[in-house]
Amino acid sequence: MPGFVVVGSQWGDEGKGKIVDLLTERVDVVARYGGGPNAGHTIRAGERRFALHHIPSGILRDNVLCVIGNGVVIEPGSLIGEIEELRKAGVRVEENLRISDRAHLILPYHRGCDIAREDLSGGNKIGTTRLGVGPAYEGKSGRYNVRVADLADAGTLPDKVARAAAMLRRAAPADLAAEFDPDPEDAAAVCLRHAERLAPFITDTAALLNSRLDAGAVILCEGAQGTMLDLDHGSYPYVTSSSSGAGGACTGLGISPVRIDSVIGVLKAYSTRVGEGPLPTEQNNATGDLIRKRGNEFGSTTGRPRRCGWFDSVVARYSVMINQIESLALTLFDVLDGFDEIPLCVAYEHNGRHLESLPADLAILRDCRPVYESHPGWKKDTSGIACFEDLPDAARRYIDRIEKLVGCEIGIVSTSPLRERTILRPEARIARWLPPR
Ligand code: IMO
Ligand code: MG
Repeated sequence: MPGFVVVGSQWGDEGKGKIVDLLTERVDVVARYGGGPNAGHTIRAGERRFALHHIPSGILRDNVLCVIGNGVVIEPGSLIGEIEELRKAGVRVEENLRISDRAHLILPYHRGCDIAREDLSGGNKIGTTRLGVGPAYEGKSGRYNVRVADLADAGTLPDKVARAAAMLRRAAPADLAAEFDPDPEDAAAVCLRHAERLAPFITDTAALLNSRLDAGAVILCEGAQGTMLDLDHGSYPYVTSSSSGAGGACTGLGISPVRIDSVIGVLKAYSTRVGEGPLPTEQNNATGDLIRKRGNEFGSTTGRPRRCGWFDSVVARYSVMINQIESLALTLFDVLDGFDEIPLCVAYEHNGRHLESLPADLAILRDCRPVYESHPGWKKDTSGIACFEDLPDAARRYIDRIEKLVGCEIGIVSTSPLRERTILRPEARIARWLPPR
């Protein structure tokens, strides 16, 4: 089994960190293929809890190599912060982390540009994480970014930084805030300091990954964000600026599609979204507040309260199609425990028309009304249940119904943040990636 992808199937924050951590028991390498500090993956192992932004969620395993691929945009200062936190906690980060020399750097100007645009966009605000991720991907396609490999040449770095700074100052709708607009000489000096710390980690990761595959290693390609935030396939323009769907794994790591064997999707038992853009099943009311409270739905990167709503089968079905998901992990299931009734969105209605697939036109999507099917709540505590048969009947029926609606098996149900408290269905196709119980 060569490589497989773990992909977010909604708007991000699906609990990918826990599922990746769980799946790493049998893999040799975990490789992040996209996004940057906008991602926030919380993983817990025993008493330890880490909020990772750049570093793959496999890092807590001593024998797993973790790779930050070329598709990732890196803010070097915050990456070093993550490295130090892990190192202090005794994690084998020096030995197990490698960073692509082709990854792009987020400079202060990218961040300043992101913030200026968000602040001056009036009604067109995207609600970004304000970390410079969008402008960093623009700089990549605009061909003026600084890459990790550029850090090796102290002689040419200041000119490269100055060119990027000039482009980004022009791309912003106003002057960049002073703190994000340093003199390029100074910014280059900071980069060089960071480069010294990062040097031992930097390598040609595409060559590394392909040679590990040649030698029979299993690679888990870790997605950040989610399919609905994918630049091509998500709810454009309310998306992130990278290919967060499974397709991004090939370009973001330098692995050919023929080396990828399977895609695992991660889905929450309900919907959330941070930032602007349509969320058809949103509950902007006491129900949404209760989901937010029970699911602790506050951003791990920005602390923003997440918008919450019921499960949306249209979105999940679309994500299964776009990513060709073989098996799904349904997370935060216990958050639904207390409800009397659980509405499940099966389709949309638009101007009297019944829609079962996702419209591209955002104006249509905004006006879609979810068509709900009502499911009785189970009103029992499911947290920590580790065996499918132990779930209440109504909970099993809800899961069975989602499988039918989205056309894909649910192989994992997560009922707690803890590694060991997870339902793994032995007959599911996902089981071949899982440790025997
Ligand atoms: P993880 O990996 C949830 C959202 C932002 C905003 C939009 C664009 O934790 O699932 P950006 O800063 O990327 O330009 O913002 O994308 N967004 C996320 N939402 N989880 C994430 O990552 C996200 N990364 C970006 O809130 O709406
Ligand atoms: Mg997040």
